[in-house]
Amino acid sequence: MTNYNKLLNNLEYLDLLAIKDSIPAYLNMITSDQKTVVDALYELSEKELDLRHKRAISACVKTAGFPFYKTIDDFDFNFQPSVDRAKISDLLSLRFIENKENVLFLGSSGVGKTHLATAIGIEAAKNRCSTHFYTFQDLIEQLKRAESEGRLERRLKMIDRYKLLIIDEIGYVNFDRSSANLFFQLISRRYEDRSTIITTNQSLSKWSSIFQDPVIANAILDRLLHHSHIINIVGQSYRMKDVIDMIDE
Ligand SMILES: Nc1ncnc2c1ncn2[C@@H]1O[C@H](COP(=O)(O)OP(=O)(O)OP(=O)(O)O)[C@@H](O)[C@H]1O
Ligand SMILES: [Mg+2]
Repeated sequence: MTNYNKLLNNLEYLDLLAIKDSIPAYLNMITSDQKTVVDALYELSEKELDLRHKRAISACVKTAGFPFYKTIDDFDFNFQPSVDRAKISDLLSLRFIENKENVLFLGSSGVGKTHLATAIGIEAAKNRCSTHFYTFQDLIEQLKRAESEGRLERRLKMIDRYKLLIIDEIGYVNFDRSSANLFFQLISRRYEDRSTIITTNQSLSKWSSIFQDPVIANAILDRLLHHSHIINIVGQSYRMKDVIDMIDE
């Protein structure tokens, strides 16, 4: 085996795949005096770093648990005029995470709450901000399981490490007082320390019936709303778009 082949094998073994892919082209450039060896080595190392950065981003996005991969480019603002594009752009700057503020998306089914929350979450994950997406039901189930197995504190601490937590679909199912209590614990730990995005189909005045306890519901809302951005989406369901188009025709 030639040293060239051994070099390719070594690069593969060392997982330096960007360098391995580009090395034939760079060797040509060096031998034809288009690049100095130093420039070639430097550019190859940049390519490898770039690949690693992209891999790290895609790992962050993958582990965050998003329900789908949709960004703001996939969102049709013309369909949902009540959504203020400038406000969403500001949230996408991730300033709210630095400021430890919360975001609440309110609106009926299909208006784009999960889409927008996910788009912001993906942007955060791409910027290497530890992010996790839960449906409210899954989150409560996990907390309940942790409590019954005597590891609630550990679980809450783990969730608290996420700089951005997205909790989707509060309001579709009612919860008992012990669930409300668990949620209160989570929210009070994050208060003024970490950002949370919430989506809900219920107006905030209905939260006392979701949590079956007005005192806890108020305590949760008080903390969530203190430093928050409220995006109230009033419009038609995007899921019904085609049906609406058909009726209009
Ligand atoms: N304005 C929009 N432009 C493009 N796609 C949209 C828009 N609004 C919603 N969608 C798409 O429609 C579907 C439903 O939107 P989404 O899941 O965000 O609704 P939702 O408000 O969370 O509803 P639900 O309360 O039922 O969960 C998704 O596939 C989403 O990507
Ligand atoms: Mg949704």
